[in-house]
Amino acid sequence: MKQVKGKTKLQRGVRDRLLRSAHKVMKNAYAPFSKFHVGAAILTAKGEVFVGCNVENSSYGMTNCAERTAIFSAVAASGPGLKIRAVAVTNNHGVPCSPCGACRQVIYEFGPEAVVFYQGKDGPMESAITDLLPEGFRLK
Ligand code: THU
Repeated sequence: MKQVKGKTKLQRGVRDRLLRSAHKVMKNAYAPFSKFHVGAAILTAKGEVFVGCNVENSSYGMTNCAERTAIFSAVAASGPGLKIRAVAVTNNHGVPCSPCGACRQVIYEFGPEAVVFYQGKDGPMESAITDLLPEGFRLK
């Protein structure tokens, strides 16, 4: 596992549980257009795990990524005080897949110190969200 300036050192067991949760929810993806199924799992500061998959649309731009589905589900279930400690992302092609730019900004909103686990071009990666999204926007 390549770790790039990950501030929060999570136990390996926690990381593996998140990756397993992300992998499991992939089967629920609605991806008839790309056939690219993505699963995401987030770990909150309270120790809860929420999952999400990508949901595509005939109007392609309306597609929601797995990461944002997980985060929006967490807010819907637990309210606006969401604090994200970690995010795991998996896909059904086993190819490199880090969160897209829009998802990075949404992760940053709720987890400015979050770590992200994903498949990088040279294997499994762990990155701080601030390394994936330098200068993230905050309205404060
Ligand atoms: N996708 C995600 O859900 N998360 C990512 O990190 C990258 C891309 C989805 C969006 C779309 O449904 C499909 O993957 C192909 O872009």
